[in-house]
Amino acid sequence: MERPDGLGFGADYNPEQWGRHVWSEDRELMLEAGVNRATVGVFAWALLEPRPGEFDFGWLDEVMDGLAGIGVEVNLGTGTANPPQWLSSRHPEILPVRRNGTSLWPGTRQAYCPSSPVFLEHALRLTRRIASRYRDHPALVTWHVNNEIGAHVARCYCDVSGAAFRKWLAVRYGQIDRLNAAWGTTVWSLRYTDWDQVLPPRQAPAFANPGHVLDFYRFSSDACHSLYLAEREVLRSIAPGTPVTTNLVAGRYGPNLDYWRWAAGLDVIATDHYPDSSDPDSHIELALAADLSRGLAHGSPWLLMEQPPSAVNWQVRNVAKLPGELTRNCLQHVARGADTAMFFQWRASLFGAEQHHSALIPHAGTDTKVWREAVALGGILRRIGAVRGTTVSAEVALILDWESWWSLDMESQPSIDVDYFDNVHRIYRALWEIGVTVDIVAPDADLSLYRLVAVPCLYIADLETGVRLGEYIAAGGGVVVSYLSGIADSNLHLYPGGHPAPFRDWLGIRIEEFFPLREGEIVALDDGSTADVWCELFHAGSAEVLAAYQDGPVAGGPALTVNRHGAGRAWYLGTRLDSSSLRTVLAGALQTVGVSHQSESGRTGVEMVRRRDETRSFLFVINHTDEPADVVAKGHELIGKRDVAGTLRVGPGRVAVIEEGRDQDAG
Ligand code: GAL
Repeated sequence: MERPDGLGFGADYNPEQWGRHVWSEDRELMLEAGVNRATVGVFAWALLEPRPGEFDFGWLDEVMDGLAGIGVEVNLGTGTANPPQWLSSRHPEILPVRRNGTSLWPGTRQAYCPSSPVFLEHALRLTRRIASRYRDHPALVTWHVNNEIGAHVARCYCDVSGAAFRKWLAVRYGQIDRLNAAWGTTVWSLRYTDWDQVLPPRQAPAFANPGHVLDFYRFSSDACHSLYLAEREVLRSIAPGTPVTTNLVAGRYGPNLDYWRWAAGLDVIATDHYPDSSDPDSHIELALAADLSRGLAHGSPWLLMEQPPSAVNWQVRNVAKLPGELTRNCLQHVARGADTAMFFQWRASLFGAEQHHSALIPHAGTDTKVWREAVALGGILRRIGAVRGTTVSAEVALILDWESWWSLDMESQPSIDVDYFDNVHRIYRALWEIGVTVDIVAPDADLSLYRLVAVPCLYIADLETGVRLGEYIAAGGGVVVSYLSGIADSNLHLYPGGHPAPFRDWLGIRIEEFFPLREGEIVALDDGSTADVWCELFHAGSAEVLAAYQDGPVAGGPALTVNRHGAGRAWYLGTRLDSSSLRTVLAGALQTVGVSHQSESGRTGVEMVRRRDETRSFLFVINHTDEPADVVAKGHELIGKRDVAGTLRVGPGRVAVIEEGRDQDAG
């Protein structure tokens, strides 16, 4: 499905913002940079269907033919990412409604309710037309459905959504009393006697019922997914041979949709990644997102649909990338399994909402840092094209769970300072700094291939998950569990008898009471660590206490424990450790379970990842530091085209890709 001769490289291409004279220059520049992939038509509905039922494909034909002429393959958008003005003025009922009942206006994008049958009907009509017209076009390589579905409106609280929610609930529960039991409606006299009484969890006088909210979030994720599936069905029926995908938002900015449920519906996993530019170490969260993309692809190569060449326009301070950062960031994704690396966007818009967003061709033109780096990157991607199809393997897994993410972010949780993604990110970050490769996996993933599994804040865990993890540990695995894991079942009913019920036996602990800390409060542990946000009073039964609190609300009580269970071990982190202590605990756990890692050589900030197949191995070395890094390597370095006999010096901010075991320049 991917290009047989190397990696994909390209961008979102919006020629409709430019006159035809620019299109020919675009093609010349694409050839200059080695672009071989473009995403086209994502926001083109209003031009493709200027009036209801009246279509104009002339300009798109020209664009597609032009791209085919220079060998650029196209992810062709179905154009349904934003309804045209005529649709929302004719049918204002498609507009989304917030939790507080206010309706969102048209005039920007994604102004539709995911459950709207009117929107769907119009979207499918356009999809059908596009599919029929371009199914045999030589430029077409992938269908790109809609765009970042749910990114702006993942949850709509309108009456249409309410009706769809009730239908979804009727399928899930069958009888209203099963819903009552699941939602615990005896509390606050919330009992329902008829499906019609059930509403979306709209803004109400007091805080919401967690079971109600969780089901609404599940429904909303499914509603967005159904929209994707409906378009996919049309595309498959008209153009059966062409893969269908849509761009998911992996990482920090993708909290709303349960992508584990989505992944199987995508013929190729495509994700977008935008670093948080206020984070000076945003390349670590980038690595997490790339590993998550690979997890969604079950280890297969995936497609990076969008990344920013430099600054974005939608953060509070849109920090631009320093020289070399575009290349490092892009190659991080490739190192972690992307076979196609694309950017948003090709040419910087002069007008409109994204006019201050960077692009491969900046406003200042081609005599620029970004363009020069883009051209150089095109060359690098060609030189390392042999990595296409190879995969990454890891000995360590980290469990990420959207339902726990949603639950811990709900109101009426014990502390506003517990941030699910922050906990995932902190543990991932420590592992990244230690220098181990991590797979991000779903709670029900097969863990047998891993030596260590990190379980940050897995708030929802059924008893079966506890049994599976226990069996994995008993067979010799290591598990590191953080606080607020194993607290609730899938209805968000808490387990009785002392948390964390599903994990209690193999953790060898029992929690008596939570003691969240005050804002900014820091506690000391007797091993020299400090911690904040969270403490709890727990009892170490069979577990060995690794560190206890020296002060704070549970002074003298255990903070960190480890328990032997069968042939393996289970660590428990009862608090939010400072980052260096977290690193120490995780490094110790890795050592215990026999995972070797880079920090043994005392180096952090130098990212090393391998992509392999049965016969070849490619070592990516990405130096994020200001110092040269000497790494042990043997083979042929593909970017600089040099043989490496034992050690390789990688300059500050530079990247090397070594084909290991190959010691002469065959190219
Ligand atoms: C993405 C979106 C693109 C573009 C980009 C700007 O979320 O898919 O269309 O708006 O953000 O950063």
